[in-house]
Amino acid sequence: MPFTANRQYKKAPRMFVAAKDMHYTTNDGRQVLDGTAGLWCVNAGHARPRIVEAIAKQAAELDYAPAFQMGHPKAFELANRLVDIAPEGLDHVLFTNSGSESVETALKVALAYHRVKGEGARTRLIGRERAYHGVNFGGISVGGIVTNRKMFGTLLSGVDHMPHTHNLAKNAFSRGLPEHGLDLADELERIVTLHDASTIAAVIVEPVAGSTGVLIPPAGYLKRLREITKKHGILLIFDEVITGFGRLGTPFGADYFDVVPDIMVTAKGLTNGIIPMGAVMVSAEIHDAFMQGPEHVIEFFHGYTYSGNPVASAAALATLETYKEEGLLTRGAEMAKAWEDALHSLKGEPHVIDIRNIGLVGAIELEPIAGQPTKRAFSAFLKAYETGYLIRTTGDIIAMSPPLIISESQIGELVDGVRAALRSID
Ligand SMILES: Cc1ncc(COP(=O)(O)O)c(C=O)c1O
Repeated sequence: MPFTANRQYKKAPRMFVAAKDMHYTTNDGRQVLDGTAGLWCVNAGHARPRIVEAIAKQAAELDYAPAFQMGHPKAFELANRLVDIAPEGLDHVLFTNSGSESVETALKVALAYHRVKGEGARTRLIGRERAYHGVNFGGISVGGIVTNRKMFGTLLSGVDHMPHTHNLAKNAFSRGLPEHGLDLADELERIVTLHDASTIAAVIVEPVAGSTGVLIPPAGYLKRLREITKKHGILLIFDEVITGFGRLGTPFGADYFDVVPDIMVTAKGLTNGIIPMGAVMVSAEIHDAFMQGPEHVIEFFHGYTYSGNPVASAAALATLETYKEEGLLTRGAEMAKAWEDALHSLKGEPHVIDIRNIGLVGAIELEPIAGQPTKRAFSAFLKAYETGYLIRTTGDIIAMSPPLIISESQIGELVDGVRAALRSID
């Protein structure tokens, strides 16, 4: 099983057999409130009829069309709908099947872009400590989670990392953006000075680092990264696999922070988690740079058998319609205050050393048990599950990101479930 304690799991399996709106049903018939939107992806809640029907209809009408040298209307329609909601300046779309594939695609676009522009010496990629960019080789190379990297050899060469921005000593219990740490963006200048800008292709960051435990950027940090990258001709890639599609209360993290990257990486919420699909959005400048040479020649040697798959495209279109009709891409902003207040009511509960929040994302960091890191949070996860709440843990951090349809009373219920779990564990 992926990213699972396999032996522990097989001794006491946790199985879902059905889901509707905010709840899962377990194989023993219990209802579990979804505090994590599945894996940060079921933004509109579960089993939404419009999406389910669109999938069934598309499968019957056009099940598959070759992705190479052939097309079908829904993929183009979806690309256009994405451009409509994306930040101004991101005008072209490449489809993938996951966040990891979107990351690889973005990194390859960045390298090839510089090459077609005649700057083929720009081969370095800059990531960040504690970043999660999926599990493929490019992603773990620019990523910064030690356990995801250490077993897999030397990874990509020519990668450097900025420091992460998590600072418990100065920023614990911040509401929204932490106050301290803007200067950490200047570490990028140091890295540029070390390698020289002419060797650097791109910087990739998650606007809010999710999987590593919800690390929220200090105020002004992303704007400063944008200034530095622009100054040096380095592409800025936002990995919005989690922050995309309304998670922060805006359509994308780029909107929340008012910073437009050159490339935006998405997946997860694109199809509400139902069908694997990702999308990478790029600026017209990047797209146009590839459109040269003889017209019968492929411009970018990359793609997947299932890029823009018809059924996935239909699911994504129905998902975007659902988001639009229900105002879900901005509903997080309306709920953010209630979410923040509820989460911060956990201050003072056993083991809690930090609480942080932004949009409809929150984290509760626990003091680790000495010599047994991750055990305490895992116990809280198991306890919460037993009592009817799905939360996620990474290290000793509880992360929560409910479907964007959550009600105020369900927020209270979820947070009280976590409170009870914290009070019942060692
Ligand atoms: C920021 C980010 N990038 C990439 C990924 C990888 O996505 P996937 O698991 O769909 O490959 C994730 C998954 O959590 C993510 O959070």
